[in-house]
Amino acid sequence: MALYSDKVMDHFRHPRNVGVIENADGVGEVGNAKCGDIMKIYLKIDNDIITDVKFETFGCGSAIASSSMATELIKGKPLSQARELTNQAVTEALDGLPAHKIHCSVLAEEAIQKALEDYYHRQGIPCEETPVTCHTCCSGEE
Ligand code: FES
Repeated sequence: MALYSDKVMDHFRHPRNVGVIENADGVGEVGNAKCGDIMKIYLKIDNDIITDVKFETFGCGSAIASSSMATELIKGKPLSQARELTNQAVTEALDGLPAHKIHCSVLAEEAIQKALEDYYHRQGIPCEETPVTCHTCCSGEE
């Protein structure tokens, strides 16, 4: 069996939603200290719906495929759905990733959660009231 599924190869070769949203409503950037890869997600939100999402990923093929798939999974969806997006869902949608590449899909989940967190903060919602775990200003310790 091939190491990477056709879906991974497709999203790696033709990533969806690559780019920057200049006037984004939420931005999340995460990095993996071990591999050094970096992922940045931009969200445009209107009335609790993710109307647009873009990503920039400096990383491996699996990280690019994961970002691409993750953005497809939340585009046009309500915030509640984006909050629940897990790296398992991203991996499943890609028809799997090799075990040593699972951490790449975690990066996508984390970047989206961080962008949501940024959005809630920009709305003036205090940490304890945001529906996501705040990592930026309280290190997730709330
Ligand atoms: Fe670092 Fe894939 S190897 S995100």
